[in-house]
Amino acid sequence: MTSDQPLPSFPDGFLWGVSTSAFQIEGAVDEDGRGPSSWDAFVRRLGAVKDGGDATVATGHYHRWREDVELLRELGVDAYRFSVSWPRVQPLGTGPVNAAGLDFYDRLVDALCAAGIRPVPTLFHWDTPLPLEERGGWLERDTARRFADYTEHVAARLGDRVPHWITLNEPAELTLLGYGIGEHAPGGKLLFDALPAAHHQLLGHGLAVRALRAHGARSVGIANSHGPVRPLSDGEADAAAAELYDVLTNRLFADPLLTGRYPDENLAAALPGPVADDLKVISEPLDWYGVNYYQPTLVAAPGPDAGESEFAGVGLPARLPFSLREIPGKERTGFGWAVVPEGLPEILHTLRARYGDRLPPVMITENGCSYPDPVHDVRRIAFHDAHLRALHSACAAGADVRGYFIWSLLDNFEWAEGYSQRFGLVHVDYATLERTPKDSFHWLRGVLRDRAGRQP
Ligand code: NOJ
Repeated sequence: MTSDQPLPSFPDGFLWGVSTSAFQIEGAVDEDGRGPSSWDAFVRRLGAVKDGGDATVATGHYHRWREDVELLRELGVDAYRFSVSWPRVQPLGTGPVNAAGLDFYDRLVDALCAAGIRPVPTLFHWDTPLPLEERGGWLERDTARRFADYTEHVAARLGDRVPHWITLNEPAELTLLGYGIGEHAPGGKLLFDALPAAHHQLLGHGLAVRALRAHGARSVGIANSHGPVRPLSDGEADAAAAELYDVLTNRLFADPLLTGRYPDENLAAALPGPVADDLKVISEPLDWYGVNYYQPTLVAAPGPDAGESEFAGVGLPARLPFSLREIPGKERTGFGWAVVPEGLPEILHTLRARYGDRLPPVMITENGCSYPDPVHDVRRIAFHDAHLRALHSACAAGADVRGYFIWSLLDNFEWAEGYSQRFGLVHVDYATLERTPKDSFHWLRGVLRDRAGRQP
């Protein structure tokens, strides 16, 4: 239920936005010189994507971007987080730039600026150029250097108008789901041998931060997924499994970024390359730290009574050392994810306790929910209302949070779930690509108008 009380106000300058990513919305995968990505190849594998969906058309944003900017303007957000498709800008992942690809983002950035909306591009949201993936993708150190080179091209073209940059989106998910268990592209089932993909993404991030700064960027962050991890019981085995899961999902990326060290010496020793030198690059100071929050995770040790792990269906070569359980007694989104607004202040508190002054100001770069309701999505309104109140309480308790971005502007291609999960404030009819603002869109517009009214 949405509260009758108006939402508490956030400080002046608090950035309200919505997020999307290139592969999930653009379509036009082989138009105007775009090269194939790891995901274009992955979606063709039988059974990889629910209902056999692919992103050839997705929401058609590549052709409908003007209409989408108009929706953003109507919504009244301060900022729009989108991603730049590496294979659209540099089809081979290296070498010549595709002028038409860069032109697309140039026009988009111009249109956003003209509408008074700050463009917040993410440089990489999982769509690795296929030629690089075929050479090992992020398992190879070279991909980090290639990413920095691509970043230079984008920064040189857009840097004069982009106020905030995001290097990577959720490298933990790409490592675990993409290289570790094969649920996402590129479909690797390497389990712990996937860890070099984590290190190389981090290195790519650090090199990209340097490249962005060299082009005058003053506000650079990253979007990492975070959520509280809770053991199923007080028993030692569950606690150890939960701790390992916490290291892999919350600390594997945040520790090196914010402290210049990996959470575990043995883990660092097993990584390839001059890790100590790399860590200096990886821990380049950030201007802000992006948190994507969805839900906490309840973790148990694997065992005969462990129940079905979330990853049971993917056919792994060995058993994972943890099993993920449903959080009991919570409402669930259409995806089956637990609705736990209080997990947001909890994880913000954990980050502050863990990293102290090394944690820069935080931006919530994603928070959202999937529901099938076509237009009257009262449950989405209640979800965001509750999360914003929880966020406000975190700020009142001392968390330095500078913005909140809703995932997502539009219903879109939800990776292995295809089009079966709808996260948008705007409904997309996939037969006609017609956009219809949902009730949550009108609700957010109202929130933003009230805020405007209250500001001096
Ligand atoms: C995280 C990812 O960044 C985004 O691509 C995805 O659609 C949402 N979470 C929802 O799963």
